[in-house]
Amino acid sequence: MILRARLVQATGSSLDEARLESWNDGAVYIKRGKIADLGPFTDVRTRHPSATVEELRSGLLLPGLIDVHVHYPQTSVIGALGLDLLDWLEQVTLPSETRLAEVAYAVGEARRFLNLLIRNGTTRALVFGSHYAPAQAALFTEAETRNYPLISGLATGDRNLRPELHTTPERAYVENLSLIERFHGKNDIRYALAPRFSLAASDALLEINGSLMKEFPELFFQTHLNENRREIAAVAHLFPDTRDYLDTYERHGLLGSRSVFAHNVHPRPRELARLAETGSRVAHCPSSNAFLGSGLFPMRAHLAAGARFALGSDVGAGTRFSLLGEAMDAYKTQRVREGGVNLSAAALLWLVTRAGAAALNLEDVAGGLEVGRSADLVWIDPLPGTVLDAVLSRSEGAEHSLGAVFSLAREDAVASVWIHGRRLYERGKLQAP
Ligand code: GUN
Ligand code: ZN
Repeated sequence: MILRARLVQATGSSLDEARLESWNDGAVYIKRGKIADLGPFTDVRTRHPSATVEELRSGLLLPGLIDVHVHYPQTSVIGALGLDLLDWLEQVTLPSETRLAEVAYAVGEARRFLNLLIRNGTTRALVFGSHYAPAQAALFTEAETRNYPLISGLATGDRNLRPELHTTPERAYVENLSLIERFHGKNDIRYALAPRFSLAASDALLEINGSLMKEFPELFFQTHLNENRREIAAVAHLFPDTRDYLDTYERHGLLGSRSVFAHNVHPRPRELARLAETGSRVAHCPSSNAFLGSGLFPMRAHLAAGARFALGSDVGAGTRFSLLGEAMDAYKTQRVREGGVNLSAAALLWLVTRAGAAALNLEDVAGGLEVGRSADLVWIDPLPGTVLDAVLSRSEGAEHSLGAVFSLAREDAVASVWIHGRRLYERGKLQAP
C-alpha cells in the first residue's frame, strides 16, 4: 500500500539539531506493517507499480505521536479547576480512581482510554496504570485486542493515598509479578513498574520495585518527581536521610535508561546531574504543570545538564490527549519562562516523535519515517471551514504549516491514524472494537 501525502518529519539526534524534512507530493510504501520505502510520490510509485495508492493530498502526514506520561484511570477527571497537586489528588482524583475497583467500569474506561489515545494520533504511550490488578489486566487485554503497543503497569502506593487504594509491598510484588508473567513481552505489551510517588511509597515498597527491576532488567519504571513545592517538602519530611527527592528512588536502584520520571519542575543540580549520568528520562507535562500551578519546566537547565526529556499529556491533570496541543503548551511555557528555550516547529515535532521514541528505547522502531520502522502515522487534515483549514490552505512552507498545526490542531483535525500499518482510526467511521 502507498499513502500519497504531504509528508513531514523531524530529523536530528538532539533538540538543538532538530530539522524538518518534507515532501510536498510524497509517498510512504507500507509492507508487513513497516515503512518499506518513502520519497517523492513519482519515485515510490515507479518502484512499486502494482501497489494500491491512497490519496491523502490535503493536510499533512506525520509520524505517530508518542506520549511518555498519561494516566489510564483519569480521563473523567479532566477539568477540575482551582486546585494544586495535593488537593487535586485528595479531593478529586484519588476518589475517582477507586471506581476502577469495579471490573465492568474499568473495562469501559480501558476501551475509552485507548480509543482516545488513538483518535488523538498517539501511536505509542507509557501509561500510568490503575491501583487494581483486574483493572490493569483489562487495559492490557484491550490493548492486545487492538494490537496497540502499550507500555504500562499497576500503580502502587502503601501510604498517604486512600485506604482503598493502598497495597502492601508483599502484595505489590505478587500482583506485579503475575501481571508481568501474563502480559509482558506478548502482543507488543511491555510492563512498567509504577510506584505512584515517594509520598505514597514506603522504603519497603520502593525496595520491591528495585528487586523486580533487577529480576527483569527489560521492564520499564515510571513515577513522579519534583512536581510541586508542597509535595517536595512532604517527601523530604518522610525521607529525612535522603539527599533529595530523586535519592528516594536512586537508593533503591531505580534510575536508568528504562526509567521515566514525570514533571521534574523543581530539580536541584545534583538531581539533574544524576538523571543525566544514569540516562534516566524525564516526562515534561506542560499542560498539567500549568493547570495545577506546579510551575514552569526548566528546559534549559535540563539541556545544560544533558538530562533527556520528552512530552507527556499527563491526563487528567493535563487537559487533553492531543500531543499537538501539549507541544504548543511546551512552546508557550518556554516563551513565558525567563531564559526559556525558543522552540521551533521542528523542535516541537522532534519532541513528540523522536524524543518520545528515544525516551522509551524505541528509537529504531518508531518516531520517524525511515525504512524499517513501524508504519505508525497520523494524518492531520482539518475539517472544512475551521481556522486550521483557513491557515493551511494559504500556507506555503512546511515550517509555517506545522506551526499552524501545533497552534490549532486538536483531535478533530486528526483524520486517520495507522499503527503497524493498520488504520485504527478514520474520521467519521465508528471505531472498532
Ligand atoms: N503525583 C502522584 N500522582 C499523581 C497524579 O496522578 N498526577 C500528577 N500530576 N501527579 C501525581
Ligand atoms: Zn502523572
